[in-house]
Amino acid sequence: MSTSSVVWKSSRGPAIAAVVLAVSCASSPAAAATAQPPGWDAALRLAEPADLNPDPRVVEIELEARVARVEIAPGETVEAWTYDGRLPGPLIRVRVGDRLIVHFRNALPAPTTVHWHGIRVPFAMDGVPGYSQPDIEPGGAFTYDFVVPDAGLYWYHPHVMSHAQVGFGLYGALLVEDPRDVERVGVADELVLVLSDIAVQPDGTLQAADAGGELGMVFGREGTHLLVNGRVLPSLTVRAGVPQRWRIVNTAKSRYFDLDLPGARFRQIGGDGGLQEYSVDREGLVLAPGERADVLVVPPVQPGASVVLRSVIVNRGFGSFEGGLPYHDLVTITAAALPAVRSAPLPEVRERIDPVPQDGATLVHLEMTLDQPPEGRPEYHLLGPLSPAKHKTLRARVGETQIWTVKNSTVWSHPLHLHGFFFQVLGADGRPVRPLVWKDTVDIPFESTVRLIVRYEDRPGVTGSWMLHCHILDHAEGGLMGMVEVGDVDTHPAAGQTHGSH
Ligand code: C2O
Ligand code: CU
Repeated sequence: MSTSSVVWKSSRGPAIAAVVLAVSCASSPAAAATAQPPGWDAALRLAEPADLNPDPRVVEIELEARVARVEIAPGETVEAWTYDGRLPGPLIRVRVGDRLIVHFRNALPAPTTVHWHGIRVPFAMDGVPGYSQPDIEPGGAFTYDFVVPDAGLYWYHPHVMSHAQVGFGLYGALLVEDPRDVERVGVADELVLVLSDIAVQPDGTLQAADAGGELGMVFGREGTHLLVNGRVLPSLTVRAGVPQRWRIVNTAKSRYFDLDLPGARFRQIGGDGGLQEYSVDREGLVLAPGERADVLVVPPVQPGASVVLRSVIVNRGFGSFEGGLPYHDLVTITAAALPAVRSAPLPEVRERIDPVPQDGATLVHLEMTLDQPPEGRPEYHLLGPLSPAKHKTLRARVGETQIWTVKNSTVWSHPLHLHGFFFQVLGADGRPVRPLVWKDTVDIPFESTVRLIVRYEDRPGVTGSWMLHCHILDHAEGGLMGMVEVGDVDTHPAAGQTHGSH
């Protein structure tokens, strides 16, 4: 169907989709919107939920978590935990500034919640049980309702037993579009790529969440099958020479990806929280669990030929690198037998981002450790000015800026994720890393230190206890988590030290 991409891109409800479909069928060439061959992304296209609200600035959907059988490879199915029976869950597409209303129902055999990873939601919508809302019991429901303030690719997943539930298949992408991208990025052919893995046993059932016991927790459990949009090695059919925009999220609970497209470079234009200050060309693209990337790429293929997008093994610490396969194939990209298009150079994309001012910032030291008592359970710890009595809480006040020095004293890397706020990463010299980009998840490599700066900006519903944890979800479960209690008044200074002016 030559119109598929047109419909996909402009669908804001069945009515509009139908009109676009009718128009493009009547006047045929859909070429205005896409230069790709018909059905080019059929194996990778994500289903989108129906928008039940006629208001163009409100997206209102239903979402149900349930166990369902899904096909991950031709003829190979697994019983997964899903949103709406799909792996990954449906792609939720909104425009920046829209209000998103999600009528969520839990049809799982266990309690759950939905967390909107990276979205600066009001605290009550953050999906953390016991803090921002109660567990949603089996058979229960909850309505999430918030305005989506920032463009970019985000994602959603449960925050109850997340090391189990995310591993079983509960994750989906949330794309917040910026209408200005039509002008400033100008690449019409767009894919959302949800990278993950799933652990399937020889008998076809899913591995238990505690497989491998304490060692499994300490290392971080990786799946047996690598998936792109829920499929093992799907294929993409492209028109040689035509640029594409890929919005990529790593939703795996432990696995890192290092994308490699032999013969091509990725022009990275954005990260976790939208576009970055300026674009950078990269050979490889490392994504720790939870991280996102926004890239432009021209697949390096001649008409009729193929190339494979693959993930090169990442050294994320002891035992992760030695002896593993050097890479895994992810997507087969074949160029249709159509004349190649001589493409213009990829655009330079810029976004105005200011460095977070450092004057008056509070200095906070955090340390990641692993206790392995000869007898007893190994446990990860996030140490610092966190009070263990109050669930490892770090305090902050609205309007405060903090500079965190996060020291990883363990032999494994940890992608640290903060709920509710963006931050910028600082170099060893204390200056922000360029190009500037808003982050909510940053890799803290093994036996090293990373600095970052976070401002607890004033906005509706900002006060509350926001989570901070390793996004290797087995590690979070094993203790690598804490809370940042953001309050209105400065009754509990987080640390005595502040950062002087300069
Ligand atoms: Cu992606 Cu606490 O979450
Ligand atoms: Cu970790």
